[in-house]
Amino acid sequence: MTPSGTTSTTAAAPTARNSGAQPAWEVLLPAAAAPARRRGRALQESLREAVRSGRLTAGTRLPSSRALAQDLGVSRGLVTEAYEQLVAEGYLRSDRGSGTWVGGAVRTEQTAPSPGTHGLAAPAPPGSGTVADFRPGTPDLSLFPRAAWAAAQRTVLSELPHSALGYPDPRGLPELRSALAAMLSRRRGVVADPDRLVVCSGVAQAATLLGFVLRARGHHDVGVEDPGSPEHSRLFAATGLDTLWLPLDEEGLRPEPLARSGTRAVVVTPSHQFPSGIAWSAERRGMLLEWARSVDGYVCEDDYDGDFRYDRAPVGALQGLDPERVVYTGSVSKSLAPGLRLGWMVLPASLVEEIVERKRTMDLGHPALDQAALAHLVTSGGYDRQLRRCQRAYRERRDALLAALDEHFPGTTVTGIAAGLHVIACLPARYGPARRFLEAAANAGVALRGLEEYGTARPTDGAVRLVVGYAHLTPTTIAAGIGRVAEALDAR
Ligand SMILES: Cc1ncc(COP(=O)(O)O)c(C=O)c1O
Repeated sequence: MTPSGTTSTTAAAPTARNSGAQPAWEVLLPAAAAPARRRGRALQESLREAVRSGRLTAGTRLPSSRALAQDLGVSRGLVTEAYEQLVAEGYLRSDRGSGTWVGGAVRTEQTAPSPGTHGLAAPAPPGSGTVADFRPGTPDLSLFPRAAWAAAQRTVLSELPHSALGYPDPRGLPELRSALAAMLSRRRGVVADPDRLVVCSGVAQAATLLGFVLRARGHHDVGVEDPGSPEHSRLFAATGLDTLWLPLDEEGLRPEPLARSGTRAVVVTPSHQFPSGIAWSAERRGMLLEWARSVDGYVCEDDYDGDFRYDRAPVGALQGLDPERVVYTGSVSKSLAPGLRLGWMVLPASLVEEIVERKRTMDLGHPALDQAALAHLVTSGGYDRQLRRCQRAYRERRDALLAALDEHFPGTTVTGIAAGLHVIACLPARYGPARRFLEAAANAGVALRGLEEYGTARPTDGAVRLVVGYAHLTPTTIAAGIGRVAEALDAR
C-alpha cells in the first residue's frame, strides 16, 4: 500500500499502471556489470535514466535494497546509496515501512507555488549573551565534511602534475567544469556545457562579472526582486549599474512593472525566492523568458539554495528552459561552506567570451588546488553524500522551529517551509508592533530579522513578519531561542 492507502505496483511485477515498464533488476543489469570502481555511479545513472525515460513509471514500487542487491549480484550498500541519492534528487520517494517508490523526474516547470534565506552576507558573529542567532544566510559550518575534503586535497596533491600549478584556465579546471556540468544537469536540470561553465568565487563574483560585462555593453540598470537580497543590489551597483526594485506577488515577478521598467536585465531566485520562499509559477517563468527575448535581454538566475528541499518535488532551474537567455549561477556556500568562495556560472553562448576575459583580468583564474579538490569531491560521490547529510539535519531543524513557533506563538503562519534554510513567520498583530518585538528579542539575546529589511513594502496590518534562519542552529538552540522571545514578550 502506498502511504495514501492506494495499492501500487512493484518494479518486479508490472501491472496495468506499469504496463510496458521493465522490472528494476532488468533495467539495472548492465550497470551492475560495470567495473567495481564505477558500479555505484553506473547504478545511479541507470536508475535515473529509467525514471526520466519512463522505463520505470511513477508509482512503481522498487524491490527492497536487499532483494535488488541479490538479483544484481552487487553489495547492498551500493543499492541503498543509489536509492538514497535518487530520493534526495526527487526521482524516488521513500516511506518508512512501505519501501521505495518511483516519484517524478526533476521538473523544469513548477505547478504549485510553495509556501520559504538572507542576502549574500553571513550573519555577524553573535555577541556574548546571545541565546540564538536566527539571522539567515549560513549553513551549519560544523557539518563541513573535513575528512572528505582533507582526503580530496591529499589525493589531488599527490596526483596533480606540476603543470597544473601554473596559472589556471580562467574558465576553471577542465575536470571541475565537466564534473559540475554533469552534476548541475542531473540535480538541477541545467543545460550545462562545460565550455560554457565558468568557475568563480561564488554567486557574488558571478554577479559582479555579469554586471561589468552588461555595463560595458551599454546597459544602465538591472532589475532586482522586491522583496529580495540586498546583496544583489550592492553587487550590481558596484559595477556601475542602477538597480530597480521590481515587485513580486505570490507567483513571481509581476509582469507590468517589469515591462514598464525599461530594463533589459534582471536577477531572480525562481526556485526558492529569497526571502519569501515561493517557487515561481510556471506561467511567470514563461513570462520572464518571453520578456527577456522581447527586449534582447538577460536573466541572471541565482540558484543559491536549490539543493535543499524537504517536502516538495525539486523545481528545475529556469536556465533549462532557455539557456541562451539565462545566466545560471550557484555556489558551494550553502552545501559546503561560504568560506571556500567557490561557485559557478553557466552562460549563454553570446556572453562566454566577454565574461571569461573579465574573469581573467580580475584575478587570472580561480585557485587550482581548491578547484581540483572540489572536482574530486563531486566525482567521488562525496558531494552528494554531504547534501544528503545536510538535508536530513536541516529538515529536523525546520521541524523543531515549526514546533517551537506553534507552541510559543499560536496563530503564526509559516511559509517557505518546503525548501531552503529559512522560513517566513508571520505572527499575529497581538505580538507587534514589529519594532518592539525585535527589540524585546534582541534584549533577550535572540537575533532576528524582520521581512521589511529586504524590500520596500510596508504592510499596515500590524503583523510581525520575520525571516527566520534555522539551518545553522541545533533543535535545542532553536527551541530555547523561541522560548526566550516568548518569555521576554510576556514580561513586557
Ligand atoms: C540570495 C543569495 N544568493 C547567493 C548567496 C551565496 O553567495 P555566494 O555564492 O557568493 O557565497 C546567498 C548566501 O547567503 C544568498 O542568500
